[in-house]
Amino acid sequence: MKTFVFNGPNLGRLGKREPDVYGSTTHDDLAHLCVATGQELGLDVEVRQTDHEGAMVGWLHEAADAGAPVVLNAGAWTHYSIAVRDAAAQLTAPLIELHISNVHKREEFRHHSVLSDIATGVIVGLGVDGYALALRWIAAHAS
Ligand code: DQA
Repeated sequence: MKTFVFNGPNLGRLGKREPDVYGSTTHDDLAHLCVATGQELGLDVEVRQTDHEGAMVGWLHEAADAGAPVVLNAGAWTHYSIAVRDAAAQLTAPLIELHISNVHKREEFRHHSVLSDIATGVIVGLGVDGYALALRWIAAHAS
């Protein structure tokens, strides 16, 4: 099953970006981890990252049209982008909202998500391992 992992702004800088918060895994490492986990689970996983909101909206439309599940780390857009929310709301397959860090232990502005109430589930604070867990859930529940 085609499954998308979409990462939003600044996540291309994983490994360099605030390693005390986000760890030392790079985005390339993360993409390999997701594709390898997908192969193990029988999922055809495609990982994309963008710093451009319009690109993310277009990718969500593509996933909606394909009826494909999405693991979405929308980065900072999580907290304010109604455009990303409205695009994600069009998905018909499961949507897993994911955050590498535990946003609830961090600044107040990170405690609110415009995505959580339209997501199937939310994974927060488990580091990059959260992506593999999200894919395992999709493989078990979204066929
Ligand atoms: C993040 C948390 C967001 O608050 C932040 O803006 C990010 C990454 C996470 O994965 O922990 O860019 O989504």
